[in-house]
Amino acid sequence: MTGTPEWATARTLADEKTFTLNVNGEQGRVTCSADTPLLYPLRNDLGLKGSRFGCGLGQCGACMVLIDGHPTPSCDLPVWAAEGKDIVAVEGLSTDGEMSPLQQAFVAEQAAQCGFCMSGILMSATALLRLNPRPDEAGVRAALDRNLCRCGTHTRVIRAILRAAKEAS
Ligand code: FES
Ligand code: FES
Repeated sequence: MTGTPEWATARTLADEKTFTLNVNGEQGRVTCSADTPLLYPLRNDLGLKGSRFGCGLGQCGACMVLIDGHPTPSCDLPVWAAEGKDIVAVEGLSTDGEMSPLQQAFVAEQAAQCGFCMSGILMSATALLRLNPRPDEAGVRAALDRNLCRCGTHTRVIRAILRAAKEAS
């Protein structure tokens, strides 16, 4: 027997709904089952590929987005729970193609190595600087607690965040 089993097709069609997501100041409509992790429609339907799939378990921070200003892993947040919220993905940090001061500080400090973790780290750092524009190093470390970097860039990342804070003051 080949193709999708009948029971699988029936389940998929029955479960699918259309959700309106407010992402980076724009509305996007996606159709999927309600328990689909937000990360999938962001990447696959709305074309926002900056948020990455790492662990899929809410443990590495690669998929971090802001939900109503709070850094939140999008890999274990069901899409139904994101509807109606203000979602910011990494693409929303720049304005008219110009990087945010925080992103520019990351470039100035050469903070990224492979870059896989960086969008998630940028979202956690953005949330931190909105809450506390002049964090100390301990505050930065605490804010990045949920972001893993397999390349070991945290020292440069911390420098970049402190640099952005200093340049903004
Ligand atoms: S992919 Fe979401 S926290 Fe790791
Ligand atoms: S720069 Fe490679 S995982 Fe962080």
